[in-house]
Amino acid sequence: MVLSDDYKNIVKLRFQSQDKLNPDFLDNFYDAILKPDDFKDQIFLPFSLKEILYYLQKSHQEYLNIWFPKIEKISDIILDKEGTNELTLTLKSFLVNYFNELSNHINFEEKVLYNFVNKLTKGIYVESEKMFVLNHFLETHSHAVEDDLISIQKRLIIIDPKIESDKNFKELFNLLNLVHNDLKIHGAIEDEIFIDKIHQEINSQF
Ligand SMILES: [Fe+2]
Ligand SMILES: [Fe+2]
Repeated sequence: MVLSDDYKNIVKLRFQSQDKLNPDFLDNFYDAILKPDDFKDQIFLPFSLKEILYYLQKSHQEYLNIWFPKIEKISDIILDKEGTNELTLTLKSFLVNYFNELSNHINFEEKVLYNFVNKLTKGIYVESEKMFVLNHFLETHSHAVEDDLISIQKRLIIIDPKIESDKNFKELFNLLNLVHNDLKIHGAIEDEIFIDKIHQEINSQF
């Protein structure tokens, strides 16, 4: 997989003060997207809670407004070309379900966790919310939203192995892998760095 300049330029905007970034930071970050299993979350440690919240919110907007529509666009080309068959019906129903799953995941996080953190960064701490928000998030935070992007590819290849050499499917799979990797880093930041920073903020400010 290669990261296009388009992708790099878009994800760069998740960082609020780009001029303050360590010179190696973006290269390390792009490497992490290519190999999420090797991601060292410490590279995010220098950021404040507010900057991490900004990064996460920006990513959510991108998933819904940029990356998912791109997946849909290439899928539409495939659906048009292939007509109705088991392969295209499987792809189509995946897209409908996946969009619901992704939006639910994002809505829940924004309404519950990010809203709580946004208030924290403005000096508002509601102690009674803390247990509910943090425990509930940690117990229910699901990684299906990223894993499903890999399992759909396997399902489609089982239905028709020839698609592995088709130009449009290659483009679709490349995009699914890219979003999968990006979401994997996103989830790791939420589970580790973000939660730690929330605790630190509460302990030091309230
Ligand atoms: Fe998220
Ligand atoms: Fe998440």
